[in-house]
Amino acid sequence: LPMTVLVLGGAGYIGSHAVDRLIQRGYDVAVVDSLVTGHRAAVNPKARFYEGDVRDKVFLNDVFDRETIEGVIHFAAFSIVPESMQAPLKYFDNNTAGMVTLLEVMTQHQVKRIVFSSTAATYGEPKQIPIRETDPQVPTNPYGESKLMMEKIMHWADEAYGIKFIALRYFNVAGAKEDGSIGEDHHPETHLIPIILQVAAGERQELAIFGDDYPTKDGTNVRDYVHVVDLVDAHILALTYLKDNNVSDAFNLGSSTGFSNLEILEAARRVTGKAIPAKMAPRRAGDPSTLIAASDKAREVLNWQPQFDNVDDIIRTAWNWKQKHPAGYADVQKA
Ligand code: NAD
Ligand code: UFG
Repeated sequence: LPMTVLVLGGAGYIGSHAVDRLIQRGYDVAVVDSLVTGHRAAVNPKARFYEGDVRDKVFLNDVFDRETIEGVIHFAAFSIVPESMQAPLKYFDNNTAGMVTLLEVMTQHQVKRIVFSSTAATYGEPKQIPIRETDPQVPTNPYGESKLMMEKIMHWADEAYGIKFIALRYFNVAGAKEDGSIGEDHHPETHLIPIILQVAAGERQELAIFGDDYPTKDGTNVRDYVHVVDLVDAHILALTYLKDNNVSDAFNLGSSTGFSNLEILEAARRVTGKAIPAKMAPRRAGDPSTLIAASDKAREVLNWQPQFDNVDDIIRTAWNWKQKHPAGYADVQKA
């Protein structure tokens, strides 16, 4: 029997790229997604799709009964920082409680490997740049806290039940599959690059840049961008690593390079050839000044070799998706 990778949240932006890449690499894939923020049309038709909620134990048990799962990749979560400040319990329920249900079902079915979407938001305001995996994790918002709690829950589930986990702490994920067939489509959109491209496409009048008085090169926030396809490749390497080594660990996923919001705007103007009007606006609550990953650990231990090494290429692939699907998945033929 072929062993199956179960992708939770596989209809989302990052999850759909992971499903697609796993299938390209010859894996058998099953997807669980409630479609609360994801899109059915984003899921590669070669994956088996189960619509339901990770917190629904009866549903999840049934999926584990039907499939022969060798490993789990867990993307299913809410991830909007300002929303988490207004509705923290929504985040602890969906993200943190969802992890408890998932680990219970994994334990019951003797599934012992999980690769997990963690985030730079678990570090909070960094004391030093670049951020290393061993640096203190002190989140400054409920979203980051919900993800840190999930890391800790996995640690104790490892101690008690031997479930091995890899926590991948993403920095800023952007871009799309090269052929533009899948990409980022969030409602509302809150991320910088897709918002800039909405302005470039004439859907928004202008970009509001949140703050120009930070202690950075040009006063705007600095972030570390990683291409979504490179990011999902690290998940596949992490699954193999778990299988070969049977040890839990955590890795940053970033480029080790920082770009200011103004530099991203300039790059998008270059790539799209559009003027992209922008204005300065007040700071957004909870934004750290600078986030840059030390990501040599993933390169050395997982042998991760990102292919996209400049932001122009990242923006180019996002723009390609945007131009092919101006209304996102509303423009994609349903499978
Ligand atoms: P997304 O919203 O596009 O994808 C999340 C998917 O999970 C959606 O398809 C949604 O329908 C599904 N989902 C959510 N809750 C669920 C539940 N309880 N049961 C079943 N399905 C559920 O988000 P994304 O940008 O693809 O992010 C994926 C993961 O990566 C998240 O865990 C997020 O916290 C993490 N992450 C993202 C970034 C980024 O820059 N996008 C950075 C750091 C971490
Ligand atoms: N920004 C603007 N205008 C906008 C949107 C964003 O100026 O309209 C700025 C933000 O203030 C920030 C930068 O662009 O300075 C990037 O913001 P995003 O919302 O795109 O991303 P964040 O850095 O806030 O967060 C993302 C993920 C988190 C993850 C974090 C790690 O959403 O899950 O990257 O670096 F933790």
